[in-house]
Amino acid sequence: MHHHVPVLAEEVIAAFDSLTGKNNLSYFDGTFGRGGHYKLLKDNYNISKAVATDQDLQAIAYAKENFPEVIIHHTNFNTFAQENAQSNTEKFDMMLCDLGVSSPQLDQADRGFSFNKDGPLDMRMNQNQSMTAARIINEFTEDDLFKLFREFGEIQNPARVIRAIVEDRKTAPFTTTMQLSGLIERVDGWHKKGIHPATQHFMALRLVVNQELHVVEEGVQQLMLQLTDGGRLAVISFHSLEDRIIKNLFKDSDLGFSVNKKVIVPSDEECKTNPRARSAKLRIFQKGAQPEKPDKFALRRLQREQNEN
Ligand SMILES: C[S@@+](CC[C@H](N)C(=O)[O-])C[C@H]1O[C@@H](n2cnc3c(N)ncnc32)[C@H](O)[C@@H]1O
Repeated sequence: MHHHVPVLAEEVIAAFDSLTGKNNLSYFDGTFGRGGHYKLLKDNYNISKAVATDQDLQAIAYAKENFPEVIIHHTNFNTFAQENAQSNTEKFDMMLCDLGVSSPQLDQADRGFSFNKDGPLDMRMNQNQSMTAARIINEFTEDDLFKLFREFGEIQNPARVIRAIVEDRKTAPFTTTMQLSGLIERVDGWHKKGIHPATQHFMALRLVVNQELHVVEEGVQQLMLQLTDGGRLAVISFHSLEDRIIKNLFKDSDLGFSVNKKVIVPSDEECKTNPRARSAKLRIFQKGAQPEKPDKFALRRLQREQNEN
């Protein structure tokens, strides 16, 4: 059984603390996975209705079997949010998106997410879509591959790897993960320690195969509109470009405010026990007006004014 440990567990529970003691809360989970965060939140808050989406068929099957009380949709949370906006616009008190892939997806070689497990060069979260990582590697022009690795992988100089890809694919198309990671090792060199040189290439491909940045930009914006007044949306991201999008959406919105001025990251302790948490970043948005902070200087100001008069 592939297991998924929810990241930032304590912090996600605390993210909704303004709703403690409230009854009949409605919850939306955009990235249900194995329901790890949902379970934590259900144990700590009075959730009476839970709606969830996941674009992975295995996550859907798991949810149906283990969480029959959850209304689960096999779809992208952006598609759900757009459709919800078109119909009756159901609103939620608590919303969570824990972006990216789950441990079961990474651990299963046949999903093709992992550069060190041999499998098909796939990387689709939604197994019903047609775009795969193999299609990108075999069909994109040299210029498009350059843009992809520079922009989404933040790789300074991807040219040598791309030239080797274009050369190799003339003889035989790329079909497996190790074919690609082997090429990157060969071209960039790797001494079997530190971060593997294929890490960023695989991340970039995954983002593009699943259109992850576009989905976050459109979907999170729409979800913010679907909060009840005082409701909160928590988003966990694992990529600096994603985090930047979320930060700006929350900062620029006049619908509500960012609950924490500074981004929340995992403790050293958590990073040690769960290395997958290392790049996690949590941001929280609350709909409605920001409660006024107690004005520490008000009394002194009042006294001064009275003395002056
Ligand atoms: C990091 S895992 C979530 C884990 C979950 N919070 C838990 O504790 O079990 C991300 C999950 O969200 C799904 N996913 C990622 N992006 C999605 C999107 N835009 N729409 C729907 N599901 C998505 C993935 O298929 C994966 O199952």
